[in-house]
Amino acid sequence: MPINIEGLSYTYSNGGPFEKNALSDINIDINDGEFIGIIGHTGSGKSTFIQHLNGILKPTRGRVIINGIDTKQKDLKELRRQVGIVFQYPEHQLFEDTVKKDISFGLIKQGLSEEEIRKRVISALFSVGLDELILEKSPFELSGGQKRRVAIAGVVAMMPKILVLDEPTAGLDPSGRDEIFGYIKRLHRDFSMTIILVSHSMEDIAKLAQRVIVMNQGTVFMDKPSNEVYTQPGELERIGLSAPQITYLMKRLKTIFPDIDENIFTVEAAARELKKHLKA
Ligand SMILES: Nc1ncnc2c1ncn2[C@@H]1O[C@H](COP(=O)(O)OP(=O)(O)O)[C@@H](O)[C@H]1O
Ligand SMILES: [Mg+2]
Repeated sequence: MPINIEGLSYTYSNGGPFEKNALSDINIDINDGEFIGIIGHTGSGKSTFIQHLNGILKPTRGRVIINGIDTKQKDLKELRRQVGIVFQYPEHQLFEDTVKKDISFGLIKQGLSEEEIRKRVISALFSVGLDELILEKSPFELSGGQKRRVAIAGVVAMMPKILVLDEPTAGLDPSGRDEIFGYIKRLHRDFSMTIILVSHSMEDIAKLAQRVIVMNQGTVFMDKPSNEVYTQPGELERIGLSAPQITYLMKRLKTIFPDIDENIFTVEAAARELKKHLKA
């Protein structure tokens, strides 16, 4: 399995006075090209989990193997080439005086040729819908959404096989959000990247992910194909989460239109379904 996680547990400040157990016995296998959504309440361990994927955090117990590389090993260069992580509010990590320098930063560290760097920077820019004209600007002249996209481009430019995004749209307005999700979808489709998307919005996860991992108090509460997660919302509700709002609406509309398909998880799918049942 390209991503193989066995018995992963993690404790912050292990053995110290502020010891905090954040992950307990996580077992997850992920295949190449999957689009995974990770959802769960604040504090459920999502960010702690993803930081294990490129070795920023090392298992307290258990193991994390990425394409044959054990993240416990010392030399993490190859691992970091394969796994790109876009952290929450990644624009806080922009620090160069031009966008170009920021996006090239990781590539220069990898010792790539100038020509290769140029190609990668341009292609990464396009993949997040930005224009070359932005390259000489200071990141600080940009809008919030643009900054976010520059930060994502910096990770995409490394062409990771596995792209992990921790709440990539937090704090953006709805149109900025949809744009970013559109680009993530394209990266998945065009480059067959494995995408692991952390979000606390069931709506967003429902729109994008094929498989959903629900985390609760440091454990995997559910790990299922997307549609199976929402058809039985009772299980989600048990831990205070819920299916997308549109799913509940469709269930209620079924009392008026008995033929309606209630297994609907996105507004777009609901619109299509309702058109079939409503006369114009
Ligand atoms: N650096 C840290 N030191 C101690 N505890 C932490 C640290 N980071 C996170 N935690 C704790 O670990 C648990 C999981 O946190 P986190 O992985 O950030 O969850 P999520 O991303 O789902 O909100 C929480 O109880 C949180 O308070
Ligand atoms: Mg988090």
